[in-house]
Amino acid sequence: MTEKRSSFSNRIGFVLAAAGSAVGLGNIWRFPYLAAKYGGGIFLLVYLILVLTFGFTLMITEIAIGRKTRLSCVEAYGALDSRFRFLGPLASLIPILIVPYYCVIGGWVMKYMVEFIAGNGLALAGDSYFSSFISVTASGFGNNPMPWFVVYILINAVIVLAGVNKGIENISKFMMPLLVILSVVISIYSLTLPGAMEGLKFYLLPDFSKLSISTILGAMGQMFYSMSLAMGIMITYGSYMKDEDNLEASVTQIQIFDTGIAMLAGLMIIPSVVAFNGGSAEGISAGPGLMFGVLPKVFAEMSGGSLIGAAFFILVFFAALTSSISLMETFVSIIQDRFHTGRTATIIGVTVFMLLMGTLSCLGYGPLSFIKLLGMEFLDFFDFFTNSVLMPIVALLSCILIGRVVGTQVIADEVTKVGYQFKRQRLFEVIMRYIAPVLLVIILLGEIAKYFGLISI
Ligand code: PHE
Repeated sequence: MTEKRSSFSNRIGFVLAAAGSAVGLGNIWRFPYLAAKYGGGIFLLVYLILVLTFGFTLMITEIAIGRKTRLSCVEAYGALDSRFRFLGPLASLIPILIVPYYCVIGGWVMKYMVEFIAGNGLALAGDSYFSSFISVTASGFGNNPMPWFVVYILINAVIVLAGVNKGIENISKFMMPLLVILSVVISIYSLTLPGAMEGLKFYLLPDFSKLSISTILGAMGQMFYSMSLAMGIMITYGSYMKDEDNLEASVTQIQIFDTGIAMLAGLMIIPSVVAFNGGSAEGISAGPGLMFGVLPKVFAEMSGGSLIGAAFFILVFFAALTSSISLMETFVSIIQDRFHTGRTATIIGVTVFMLLMGTLSCLGYGPLSFIKLLGMEFLDFFDFFTNSVLMPIVALLSCILIGRVVGTQVIADEVTKVGYQFKRQRLFEVIMRYIAPVLLVIILLGEIAKYFGLISI
C-alpha cells in the first residue's frame, strides 16, 4: 500500500467525474417511471426530502471513508473496523449484479438511437413497438434485443480495455450540458401538448393520500441507485479525492446535478405520457418501458422530431455509457484487488460474466418469461434485489459502523480536515445515529412484509 494513489486534479474534476457516474439511466429512464408509478408529486416530495437528508449523509460518509482510508470499497470498511470487513464484498456485489442488466437497457437505447439516426424514428412510435421488441416477437435481426445488448457490452469492454482516459471524460463534459439543454427544450414542448397540464399537476403537486410505504421504498431505492450510493462507488471515488478539496460543497454540487437531471427527465416524460393518455393521470401504465414507449410518440408529433429524437437518444446513450463504464471498471478493479488477476484476463472474464448474466435479463420479457423470480422478470428482479434489498442492508450496516462503532466524529474530522466548516454537522449526526438506522430497519421489514404478502404494493 505504499504505491502512490492517483487523484483527481481538483474539485471540479472530482465533482464532474462523480456526477458523470451518477447521472445515467437512473435519472432519465428510471426516475420518471417510478415517479409515475408511485403517485407523481408525492414521490417527488419524498425523494427530495430523502436526497437532502439521507442522501447527503450517506454520500458525505462514503466519500469521507474513501478519502480517509485511501482504499477502495472492498477493503475500506475493514480498515475502519476489522469486524466489518465482510461489508466490502457485500457492497461490491451490487455493481456486479447491476451492470449486466444495465447493459441490456443500454442496448435498447442504442437500438433507438440507431433507428432515429437512420430516419426510422416514426416506426418506433407504434403502440406495441417497444413491447414486441423486448419480448423478441418482432421479426428481423435488428428487432431482436440480443445483438444490441452484445454490441453494447463489447463497446464497454473495448473502452475499459483501452483505459478510461481523458477521452470519455471530455465527451461527457461536452455531452452533459447538451443533455440539459435538450431536456429543457423537450420539456417545454411536452408541456405545450393538450392535456399536459394535468400531467404537470400530477408530477408537481403532492397528493398525500397516495403516500404509502411503497412510495418511500421506491424513492429510497431510487436515491441509492441514482447517486450511486451504498455500493462502494463513492468510497472508491473519495479515495482519489485530494485532502485540500471541500468535501461538503462537492457533495452538494453532485446532488444538484444528479437531482436536477432526474427532475428534468420527469418534466419531459410525465406530462407527455398524461397527454397521450387523454389528459388523465389515472391508470397510466408506468413501467420500465415508459421512456421507450412514450417519447417516440412525442417526437413523431413534433416538427423536426426525428432530428431531436436522434439527438436525444445519442445523449441518453452517452449518459448510459459513462455510467456503465464506471460500473464495469469498478467490477474489474474489485476482481483485480481481490484475486490479483491480470487486467486483460479480468476484463475478458468480466465480459463473459456480463454476457451470460445479462442474457437472462435480455430474454426475460420474451423466451425466458416463463421463469419468474418472486413473480418478477429477471431484469425487474435484479433491479429490485439490488435496490430494495442489498442497498438498504449495506446502508444500514454502514450507519451502524459509523454511527455506533467508530463514531461520527471520524467523518466530521475528515470533512473539516484542512479547516473547512462542516455546516450541516448536526443534521448529519442526527440522521446517521438515529433516523437512518430506524428508517432502514423499517424499510427492510417493509420489504419482507411485502414479500410475504402482508402488505400490498
Ligand atoms: N447512478 C447511475 C445512474 O443513475 C447508475 C450507476 C450506479 C452508475 C452505480 C455507476 C455506479 O444511472
